[in-house]
Amino acid sequence: MPPAHYGYLASGVDDDATLFANHDAFSKLRIRVRRLIDVRKIDTSVTIFGQTWNSPIALAPVSSQGAFHPEAESAVARAAKVQGHGMILSTVGSTSIEDVTAERGAPVWYMLYPTDD
Ligand SMILES: Cc1cc2nc3c(=O)[nH]c(=O)nc-3n(C[C@H](O)[C@H](O)[C@H](O)COP(=O)(O)O)c2cc1C
Repeated sequence: MPPAHYGYLASGVDDDATLFANHDAFSKLRIRVRRLIDVRKIDTSVTIFGQTWNSPIALAPVSSQGAFHPEAESAVARAAKVQGHGMILSTVGSTSIEDVTAERGAPVWYMLYPTDD
């Protein structure tokens, strides 16, 4: 990967302030261990805005994925489909919303950068 692409992926904006804030917030989360629970049937589904997802995990919008892999958002959509994860496509993605929706097998959310037009 070219160094500039790696830098874009690995770093944040504005002095990395939100990157550190996110990391700090996430580090406060703990997994609570519960024993003697029947785990033969686990339901991780959630309903958000009337849509039911198998998993509470959704992939945040990441722009220009073609800079990191030739299959870009299509490959990510296929991975999301396997576990039923939600996916948010960036306005500045490398793949059309039609192609991503087809690979995901369900509608994806769209992160819109509004313009003044
Ligand atoms: C390379 C890269 C591109 C991103 N592109 C977008 C984008 O187009 N739109 C957006 O709303 N957020 C974008 N983000 C922000 C992510 O959606 C996410 O909010 C951020 O990375 C924090 O989550 P994390 O701690 O899991 O990385 C981008 C992040 C990265 C690293």
